[in-house]
Amino acid sequence: MQIAIDGPASAGKSTVAKIIAQKLNFTYIDTGAMYRASTWLAREHKLSYSDEKGILAAIDKEKIELKNENGQQKVFAGDKDISQDIRTPDISAHVSQVSALAGIRAKMVSLQRQMAGQMNVVMDGRDIGTTVLPAADVKIFLVASAHSRAQRRMLDFKERGIKTNQSLEEIEQDIAERDYKDSHRKISPLKKALDAIEIDTTSMTIDQVVNAILSEIKKSQKNYKKRV
Ligand code: CDP
Ligand code: CDP
Repeated sequence: MQIAIDGPASAGKSTVAKIIAQKLNFTYIDTGAMYRASTWLAREHKLSYSDEKGILAAIDKEKIELKNENGQQKVFAGDKDISQDIRTPDISAHVSQVSALAGIRAKMVSLQRQMAGQMNVVMDGRDIGTTVLPAADVKIFLVASAHSRAQRRMLDFKERGIKTNQSLEEIEQDIAERDYKDSHRKISPLKKALDAIEIDTTSMTIDQVVNAILSEIKKSQKNYKKRV
């Protein structure tokens, strides 16, 4: 079974995707972490963020891996744990540039489809319902007001222990810029799939969002049973 969760930055995708995967015993795949890791590799190898060939070579050399350790998703480049390093404002500021490169997207989409072909997945990102898994059993598109997403991001920095001097306004501006770039790129822009269910999480708790999605999954399972 494939559950696709897309939406703009800080709409709550990874938080709810993780909980749903845990409840259903599915594998959670954070596709944003894969683009963040590619951006981190570009910086580490002192490459330009538009150097597609160089970044692809760095990915082949270092191997990006998502690993589950004690119930926590970790991101590795070779044997280095980069889970924290990929969440900094500097990486956030450049990830949209790297994720717009055709060769990088082709590589990541192929890896993501490979994973989804082997197990039941909850996958979150920007193009899961439209491009990566167009036949996903359930497609969710999460949105929330820009202000509440900035507030959530700020809180998230604190909880993860990520130090930043950015004000709430600056965080909101960064998020808006990234959403604009992600929605306006040529290849697989951030877009709600025609058959996705949109949920506005602005005034919803995490539990409420999780329950709304679980009920959509149940509905789809019932419809599936009726069809076979
Ligand atoms: O957690 P946050 O919402 O800030 O972003 P993320 O899910 O970690 O994704 C980081 C960036 O990766 C996005 O802003 C997109 O540029 C890119 N991305 C993408 O292009 N396609 C995906 N399926 C997932 C992320
Ligand atoms: O993955 P994405 O960037 O869409 O968002 P996230 O990292 O899951 O959520 C960003 C922050 O918002 C986290 O600290 C969540 O705990 C919080 N959140 C919330 O306060 N209310 C929700 N309904 C969903 C997420």
